Amino acid sequence: MILVTGGAGFIGGNFVLDWIEELGEPVVNLDALTYAGNLETLASLAGDKRHIFERGDICDRALVDRLLATHRPRAIVHFAAESHVDRSIHGPAEFIRTNVQGTFTLLEAARAYWNSLEGEAKAAFRFHHVSTDEVYGSLGPDDAPFTETHAYEPNSPYSASKAASDHLVRAWYHTYGLPVVTTNCSNNYGPYHFPEKLIPLMIVNALAGKPLPIYGDGQNVRDWLYVKDHCSAIRTVLARGRLGETYNIGGWNEKPNIEIVRTVCALLDELRPSPEGSYSRLITYVKDRPGHDRRYAIDARKVERELGWRPAETFESGIRKTIAWYLANPEWVANVQSGSYREWVSTNYGERDTTGERA
Ligand code: NAD
Ligand code: TYD
Repeated sequence: MILVTGGAGFIGGNFVLDWIEELGEPVVNLDALTYAGNLETLASLAGDKRHIFERGDICDRALVDRLLATHRPRAIVHFAAESHVDRSIHGPAEFIRTNVQGTFTLLEAARAYWNSLEGEAKAAFRFHHVSTDEVYGSLGPDDAPFTETHAYEPNSPYSASKAASDHLVRAWYHTYGLPVVTTNCSNNYGPYHFPEKLIPLMIVNALAGKPLPIYGDGQNVRDWLYVKDHCSAIRTVLARGRLGETYNIGGWNEKPNIEIVRTVCALLDELRPSPEGSYSRLITYVKDRPGHDRRYAIDARKVERELGWRPAETFESGIRKTIAWYLANPEWVANVQSGSYREWVSTNYGERDTTGERA
């Protein structure tokens, strides 16, 4: 079996579902169930013995030691993190605690466990660290996409904390020989995405007739990958990635934010037309995010060349599936819109004056 951390979050939840469906191998899922963790994402696994859920904190060394000793996993896939840039601006401490201290704790627990293994089990063990393209900083309009050798230049508390965790993972390989692999992936989208991030927020707000807040001029570029493709990339790197290596994961789908939001509106106009006219009428420009990275783009040639991984979805097919999923699952959305989520909306958007521009 494998130990997954953060498996009740967006990508971790999709990964657990995908892993059990594709491989049928049991998963121990360690998740603290912060505001971003949601067991409803895993409702289809209720009663399935291949999913063992453990509520707990990755900073709790005794708990991690106990889980490793009890379940004896062949790999750890580490997703657990604070993941939202805007939240990291309002409150960075939790990002340092979970992303840096938590990764350190896991690495130390993994090292002790790995040292206790022998023979085949020791040789086969892997620690897979799931990271982000944001550690590389921001690209200019004509810069080449990020390769694995691009300098680390994180600009937000979130990306700085993830960069720190990547460095720890690297050091545990070089110093202690811990068998690690790291993947740095571009922006994900798809089912079960918490509606604080761009794409689900736009879908949910549009359906509720609320403004669609675009930071700055809407020309910031992100590189989008359908979450199931990220899951298949992690499976591939975990199975065949070279030890100590990092692999950049992306789908060659760079788009400015305004184009993403217009695409979401156009698909909603087609699939759930509003009597009040196109959803694009709700587009509203608001004050920019401080330190807002202008452009991310991933060069995914290494994982394509070495491991033969390629995404299955284009942006067009993936975004259509995503919108269809949100339209079919209003109860999932309603249930994540808890008290803490409502507080977040007033913290983040309450102080952001609109810039007066409409779509
Ligand atoms: P998420 O915020 O949706 O989920 C994070 C999960 O971690 C939640 O279930 C939460 O309860 C859990 N968690 C938080 N703190 C914890 C702690 N101290 N102990 C145990 N569990 C804890 O995040 P996501 O978008 O699914 O991202 C998962 C990973 O992928 C993160 O490491 C993130 O940096 C990375 N990543 C995300 C993206 C993206 O576009 N979302 C892109 C590339 C990489
Ligand atoms: P987000 O989904 O928060 O991901 P990240 O900042 O990690 O890339 O944001 C994606 C882009 O969308 C980013 O450039 C910020 C922008 N954005 C908005 O314009 N409005 C919003 O309300 C949000 C949440 C994000």
